[in-house]
Amino acid sequence: MACRRIGVLTAGGDTPALNATMYGIVEAACRRGIEVIGLIRGYASLLSDQVPTVLLNPLLSVIPELDPCSGGTILGSSRTYIDPDSDALDRARSALSRLKLDGLICIGGDGTLNGMQPLTDVLPVVLAPKTIDNDLGLNYAGEVHDWMMPPDGTEPILRPSRERIRLDDVINYATPGYATAVFVVVQSIERIRTTAESHRRVAIVEVMGRRSGYIALGSAYAQPDCILVPEVPLDVDLLAERIRQLYEIQHHAVIVVGEGVRLPDGRELGARQATHDPAGNVRYSGAADALAELLEQRLCGDELFTRVRSGEPPGAVFFTRKIGHTQRGGRPVHFDRFYGALIGGRALDLIDSGQTNVIATLQYSESGGFDVSSYPAGRLRDARGEIRARILHPSFYDARRMQLTDFGRDYLEPIFSDAVGWDDVEFIRSRTFSAGSLTSRFHSVNVDIRRRIRYL
Ligand code: F6P
Repeated sequence: MACRRIGVLTAGGDTPALNATMYGIVEAACRRGIEVIGLIRGYASLLSDQVPTVLLNPLLSVIPELDPCSGGTILGSSRTYIDPDSDALDRARSALSRLKLDGLICIGGDGTLNGMQPLTDVLPVVLAPKTIDNDLGLNYAGEVHDWMMPPDGTEPILRPSRERIRLDDVINYATPGYATAVFVVVQSIERIRTTAESHRRVAIVEVMGRRSGYIALGSAYAQPDCILVPEVPLDVDLLAERIRQLYEIQHHAVIVVGEGVRLPDGRELGARQATHDPAGNVRYSGAADALAELLEQRLCGDELFTRVRSGEPPGAVFFTRKIGHTQRGGRPVHFDRFYGALIGGRALDLIDSGQTNVIATLQYSESGGFDVSSYPAGRLRDARGEIRARILHPSFYDARRMQLTDFGRDYLEPIFSDAVGWDDVEFIRSRTFSAGSLTSRFHSVNVDIRRRIRYL
């Protein structure tokens, strides 16, 4: 049976492409005469007594607040998930039936996909992926079976059964949000580089991505001297020696470190306080600072640094910069807008054709380029039934050189060769110093959306 009314929600950490994906869903729904109800703050809407929602297409036209070029999400997001072992599932079930939904599209990442599983017993549910971390998908079909489950219940370890992969093998090549995050990272590093050069310093730049090194990999466009990814245990002595050599030649260096980078004993360098968010994810408190300390211990007394920076305090040679949430915010670049909207349209097709527990994907083929497709969510679950974050396959990264490989370069090029549109550039030119910014206050879309919220 075709849908008449569906729900849509955005959950987990936001990305700049959420509104674009939602726009793709709602536009496609309007053409098919389907009503789209937006749930406020992700799964939290279904658990609240009043179930706040917004009709996203009254009279079958998209509401003007839903601008595909704006970052964030007009619905709001949260890391609240539905625990199937509590009364939460009953509350969500009751809310969904009172809303009279024929299906639900969740825009999210691995946490959202784990969270949607219990709802698939209640109604058809489809995931439209998003995450700046680019960690939702597989390097090749069946990779999920290569996670070894230690019998003591400790963390699974990936032992890839395939030494080499092809670009066409990657399931869900890139997730909306990733390109914009890399764009922000690259611009930041380029700016950090020149000040490091001028002051003869070593910059340590921390990028997001949790346990996946895709954002760190993409930073290669800014030509950092060393890239450290969470997938490969940190060899501090090798790094210190490399920095010494680089410093000798160019009197400065730039290191990029993925926030989830690990020590050889498996401890995460940045997770000094073992804090977790509600989805169970570790919150990172500072891999860059921890790395700076380790390098200082090894290099600060070195004659080279005191000679080149005579008169300066020895510790000040290192400085750290966490790019942080700017990676997740602001206007999405062309790649994310375009493919976010296409993925949204694909998710609508899937739900309207009665599919459930599937994800819309972005596939790449060397002969045909990008196209949208789908993949059963069950094939992303490991032996424990969990979704594992996709991590970099060894063929992407050369641990000895601390740089991406030729294959890593081949992977990035299709995404980034045309990622920024002319309008992205024009937007910067016309908006950054717009006189209107000085005369009017910031107008939040939350104010307009609040007026549209309805409660059960
Ligand atoms: O998963 C997306 C992400 O941005 C990670 O890269 C990062 O570790 C985390 O979310 C930050 O989350 P929060 O906003 O809760 O600090």
